Amino acid sequence: MITDRPAIMVGGKEYVRVCKSIEVSTRSPLHIEFEIEHDVAFFRMENVVYAISNVCPHKRASVLSTGFVDGAVVTCPLHGRRYNVVTGENLTQGRGVSTYPVLELDGYVWINIHGASTPVITP
Ligand code: FES
Repeated sequence: MITDRPAIMVGGKEYVRVCKSIEVSTRSPLHIEFEIEHDVAFFRMENVVYAISNVCPHKRASVLSTGFVDGAVVTCPLHGRRYNVVTGENLTQGRGVSTYPVLELDGYVWINIHGASTPVITP
């Protein structure tokens, strides 16, 4: 449970407040560690915010928020694996990253931190 952030219930799911909407821009992904197992990168594309695990599965490095972003794709700055920030799919090879449900309400970004998807493996 995340106790230090305001929370709301939407559709029976708990969303916790992340930040002001203006803090996630197209040019500036945001990195927040909620709990030890929820290290999250937020990206804005075409005025929609998406959240994925910030941890590159290749070497378990917490770096994706510092990767190169091109459209819906972020490239890990360490060894170049590429991930779709909408689906979490690994566009190169191997395990993808978890995605998280995100909402924008009242000028804030909210995340369902316990609604993470299971990463898909690309053969
Ligand atoms: S740590 Fe990301 S590609 Fe190696």
